[in-house]
Amino acid sequence: MSAPSVDRGQWSGKLGFILAAAGSAIGLGNIWRFPYTAGENGGGAFVLIYLGFVALIGVPVLLAELAIGRKTQRNPVGAFKALTESKFWPMVGGLGVLTGFGILAFYSVVAGWTLGYLYMSLTGGLAGVTEAGASAAVFTNLVTDPVWAIVLAGAFLLLTILVVRGGISGGIERATKILMPLLFVIMLILVIRAMTLPGAGAGISYLFKPDFSKITTTVVMSALGQALFSLSLGMGAMITYGSYLPEKENMPFAGVSVAFFDTLIAIMAGLIIFPALFATGGDPSGGPGLVFVVLPTIFNAMPAGNFFAVAFYALLAIAALTSTISLLEVVVSYFVDERGWRRDKAAWTIGGLCFLLAVPSALSQGAVAELGTGGLFSWDFLTLNNNIWGNYSLSLGAILISVFVGWKWGIPSALASLEASGDRLPAAGLWGFLIRYVCPVVILILLIFIVATGTYF
Ligand code: TRP
Repeated sequence: MSAPSVDRGQWSGKLGFILAAAGSAIGLGNIWRFPYTAGENGGGAFVLIYLGFVALIGVPVLLAELAIGRKTQRNPVGAFKALTESKFWPMVGGLGVLTGFGILAFYSVVAGWTLGYLYMSLTGGLAGVTEAGASAAVFTNLVTDPVWAIVLAGAFLLLTILVVRGGISGGIERATKILMPLLFVIMLILVIRAMTLPGAGAGISYLFKPDFSKITTTVVMSALGQALFSLSLGMGAMITYGSYLPEKENMPFAGVSVAFFDTLIAIMAGLIIFPALFATGGDPSGGPGLVFVVLPTIFNAMPAGNFFAVAFYALLAIAALTSTISLLEVVVSYFVDERGWRRDKAAWTIGGLCFLLAVPSALSQGAVAELGTGGLFSWDFLTLNNNIWGNYSLSLGAILISVFVGWKWGIPSALASLEASGDRLPAAGLWGFLIRYVCPVVILILLIFIVATGTYF
């Protein structure tokens, strides 16, 4: 295949790729969604099943996406175009691009809240929040203020645009090379702090001691949905990132490292939140408010709490930023590769449009109700977007990508791309089996389950 005509840029090497791809994977999904999902689903048993899905479904699909990306050196649409004659498969890539846009539009709203909390922790807005009621009021005040909700989401999108317009090695790689190690260090400090609180042991056993009586279909399905979302799978983010990895780099190693770091950070988030929660007598099944509502009271109850609050919300914002970068990058790379747009123009245009779509989501958490307007704008757009793009579309995409690699493009071609540097994929036979038979079937069961039960994760 001929090389792409425009200069697309590349990672400077394996480390740049691993950090950027791990940056995509590690986000609100690990630090905000994983702990509350684990908490709602009984702790240890959920964590164990989650780890199993990361290994058996997540890693194989991740490698499949990377293989497509490196072989074609294109965005998801261009990648499928390059590998098939059919009109159908590029549409799957198109669905991925659309999904990236859709996820970005609600993800940036929640990411905006992290900026709001960072601001409050820096300016003393969280001081004196020592009990759950007061903390819930702070959260409600933030998300129901129409100006704040819109400004914060917009600010977050602006940061994302500024990095993506800088391109691959100059923008994304440079940002993640600083942000990811910083994130790791801040988290490590917080893990040590949380685990040495009196009474922390109960939180640790909650996270690691599986209670098998807690396993239900919903627990299993949420674990799978969480594994896909957390690894940024099913919409071509990893196709796009893999497309910037030079041929000489060891792709199986890079892919497995990304999954490893993503899982490590999720577990570390659990090791911050649950020990801290149990030490202060909180409830693990607090739902999506866990990070925002529960943690401020915990910070205020610990020594040097405000320092840890600032550190925590800063790292949450950092983690979210390296994820929103990857979401915008998928859409931008499509317009750069397929439509010949300048990167700069694509980043501003797509980011701007995304802001327009983010506004209804930002206003949907109570701000519109506050304004007294009803009708269409009182829908919960945030949850709706999360379901359409974050659940249905991602599962469908992951099924189709597995079917494509397993049955259409073929395991031998995919393996050749994965092993292009000469480094072997360990257990390649097992990988082929999982991609052909296990991944499509298991993820199809998930899709049927969420459609049939209307379950939201
Ligand atoms: N994985 C990220 C997180 O856990 C979110 C994310 C970024 C994502 N890019 C994605 C999810 C692509 C699905 C697909 O926060």
